[in-house]
Amino acid sequence: MEFYTPEYNEKKIKELELALSKEVLATKNFIDLSEIETSTREKFLVKNMGDLTFDASRHCISSKAIKIAKEIFDEVKAKEFLEAIWSGKVVNKTENRRALHPALRAPKGSFFPTSISDEVHAQRETLFKVSESIRKGELRSFSGEKYNSLLALGIGGSDLGPRMAVKALSPYTGSIDLRFVSNIDPAELSNQIHDLDPKNTLVIVSSKTFTTLETISNANAAFNWMAKSISEDGAKFQRLAVTANTNNAKNYGLKDNQIIKFSNWVGGRNSIWSSVGLPLAIAIGQKKFEEFLAGGFSVDNHVKDEMINSIPSLMAILGYIHRNYIGSSSHCIVPYDTNLSYFPSYLQQLEMESNGKSVSINDDFIKSHSAPVIWGLVGTDSQHSFFQMLHQGSDNIPVDIMVARSSTYESENITQRHRMLVANALGQAEALFRGKKNKIKHKNFDGNRSVSLISYNKLSPYRLGSLIAIYEYKVIIQAALWKINPFDQFGVELGKEFANALINNEKNAFGIKTDTLDKFLKLK
Ligand code: F6P
Repeated sequence: MEFYTPEYNEKKIKELELALSKEVLATKNFIDLSEIETSTREKFLVKNMGDLTFDASRHCISSKAIKIAKEIFDEVKAKEFLEAIWSGKVVNKTENRRALHPALRAPKGSFFPTSISDEVHAQRETLFKVSESIRKGELRSFSGEKYNSLLALGIGGSDLGPRMAVKALSPYTGSIDLRFVSNIDPAELSNQIHDLDPKNTLVIVSSKTFTTLETISNANAAFNWMAKSISEDGAKFQRLAVTANTNNAKNYGLKDNQIIKFSNWVGGRNSIWSSVGLPLAIAIGQKKFEEFLAGGFSVDNHVKDEMINSIPSLMAILGYIHRNYIGSSSHCIVPYDTNLSYFPSYLQQLEMESNGKSVSINDDFIKSHSAPVIWGLVGTDSQHSFFQMLHQGSDNIPVDIMVARSSTYESENITQRHRMLVANALGQAEALFRGKKNKIKHKNFDGNRSVSLISYNKLSPYRLGSLIAIYEYKVIIQAALWKINPFDQFGVELGKEFANALINNEKNAFGIKTDTLDKFLKLK
């Protein structure tokens, strides 16, 4: 396998960084700037992809700054990085892995290596065979009943993707009741199973490694709950595993025909397109799942064709300027869509687990800040919570506002309320950007707060797929700008090791005293 080892012209990069920093400092009052630049800004900052519009014209960043950042994009070899990913080079050097997740949404015969495409399509076939047989009631419970509920166990990337997408596409879901459990906190499993009938519940355990403490503990607890009520054989029968580690799943007790595989090169936070999407495929069916994949693939083509001028490149560049030159330590995500309520958490994992790092792809310490804090909440609820800070707080926090032009639900009454929802999304974008001067200080709004407005016709499976893929590429391109490897996550290991030492009462591990946990538990 070929490794991706970029070489940088550090001198040139430094010069460009300096020029960018000067330009950003010189851009004092954006409103004046926008008047000067009106004709050029639209060209630079409003982009379309089908019915999706990415409008970044409300950003307090000059066109010149974006031009300089685009030169940095070239110098840090962002295009080469993307091409290395698509061609199957080892881009994740620390784990000696490729990162071919875009291939998971591609049709046969596209631009990915043929061997990868064959592997993907064989796995997709199995995924649909299983999902459709559950939907049609061909795959039945131990007592021969049709499954009417599903308990999906997993955590991080093995949970957030399907959890977020099933909620996002709830107008398209069928009659099977889907419950998700990720946390090791026993409260979560208890809350989710208390009203389920174990007789017709299928348990899906999703874990790439099949070793994760939370998932395995929850799988054990769910097994006991089911075995107690139906029988041990029944509990063994009514479960499936989705994993890249079939050996571990077999050792756990699953049979070959209960294991749905995905490839080792699929990163957890990019796994929604793989067999990890099983709960989503069961919820919306094969056809809609294929539309979801097609939406993702439309972004692969968009990025390939437009590269530096693509929507994800622009998003990445704007985020990079905010983080490294304006000093924004966080980035806020506000979908004006209740069904996208898990989207901020999904992006939080995607961006912060990928780019929350301080070491470069070439094993050096990076010299700038990397991923900002990603946070958010749906509108309009968030307007009655943290919008005060977005408008008048001391930090300049860029905001992504997402909104559909039409609701997925239809009736005259809904259309009217949807109109109000959209008015709020637009109104807030304008207010954040324009502000309103007032001599009374606490009534003054400076404006100049950057907003990206992402709008589209409807939140369909296709559109959701494209939204996810847009952010995936934004993250990858930002990783290129920061020169980091977005595909590993060693930062999550140490805390796990400490927790395990405590659970196992390991003597003096990491300097922790034996009995620390037990003593802590006794403190009442
Ligand atoms: O949080 C660390 C992590 O490794 C994530 O990257 C991953 O999605 C999650 O744990 C779950 O891992 P697994 O799918 O192996 O259970």
